[in-house]
Amino acid sequence: MKFIKKTAIVTGAASGMGLLFSQNWAALGGNVVLCDINETTLKEKAKEINAEGKGNAIGMVCDVRDYAQVCAVCERAAESFGGIDLLINFAGGTAVRMQKIDREKYPEFPDVPIEVYDWGIDVNLKGPFYFAHAVLKQMRAQKSGLIINIGSITGQEGDGYGMDYPTAKAGLMFGLTKSIAQYGAKYGIRCVCVSPGPILTRDAMAKMKTLSNRAGDPQEVVDLCLFLASEKGQFINGENIMIDGGRNAMGRWK
Ligand SMILES: NC(=O)c1ccc[n+]([C@@H]2O[C@H](COP(=O)([O-])OP(=O)(O)OC[C@H]3O[C@@H](n4cnc5c(N)ncnc54)[C@H](O)[C@@H]3O)[C@@H](O)[C@H]2O)c1
Repeated sequence: MKFIKKTAIVTGAASGMGLLFSQNWAALGGNVVLCDINETTLKEKAKEINAEGKGNAIGMVCDVRDYAQVCAVCERAAESFGGIDLLINFAGGTAVRMQKIDREKYPEFPDVPIEVYDWGIDVNLKGPFYFAHAVLKQMRAQKSGLIINIGSITGQEGDGYGMDYPTAKAGLMFGLTKSIAQYGAKYGIRCVCVSPGPILTRDAMAKMKTLSNRAGDPQEVVDLCLFLASEKGQFINGENIMIDGGRNAMGRWK
């Protein structure tokens, strides 16, 4: 696979799978705009990618909840590289984990301050919605493009405590992905959702059961996303693809 002169916008690019995807994309010759709220790591990682001398990288601070910042990223990507071939939405996470909520202090869903859940819905769902609205202007003009949303097994399973996360991820996996695919088809634009099960960007994920009896490697998710963006993945559209070691098929074995 080669992505020479292809341009990707990657959100949540300062760590985990977003960073790994950005590094892989550039190693295959692509240009990448890394977006995150973590300015220090972002700049450092963009510099490292440029030092490799393959694809070009730009690091841009962008809170996906801020529509003006989202538009600025899309404009900069198109101006710098002449177009946008891929938007991939990795920014996200469970609000109670990302906001470091003390479970002893807030033992049940209605006890957790609502602002915590605002964060989860906004980052996981409103961010990709804002990005779709902004990036589709460019993709419509160039009559091509791909948007990859990142869902989660939790969007299938639900979570009675961190309720923002499955609610937002299910919105991405089904409503937003299919809707973008329907809108984009007449302009040659595709949209696909990739929904991981437990992935070892954190050691704790190893505790979640799967039929494969292991958690996934971040590279396995990145490889699937690269396939979808490559020539070989062009017939996949409007679909949610689980990459979860069979966890979604476990039923009573969980
Ligand atoms: N790791 C897993 O087991 C797993 C499983 C299913 C789904 N996912 C999903 O995959 C994606 C990546 O997961 P990961 O474990 O690699 O994540 P991670 O926690 O390592 O990285 C998330 C990144 O998002 C950034 N971010 C947070 N808020 C932001 C905002 N408002 N604007 C822009 N950036 C922001 C963070 O700074 C961080 O760099 C997430 O959407 C996650 O929900 C992960």
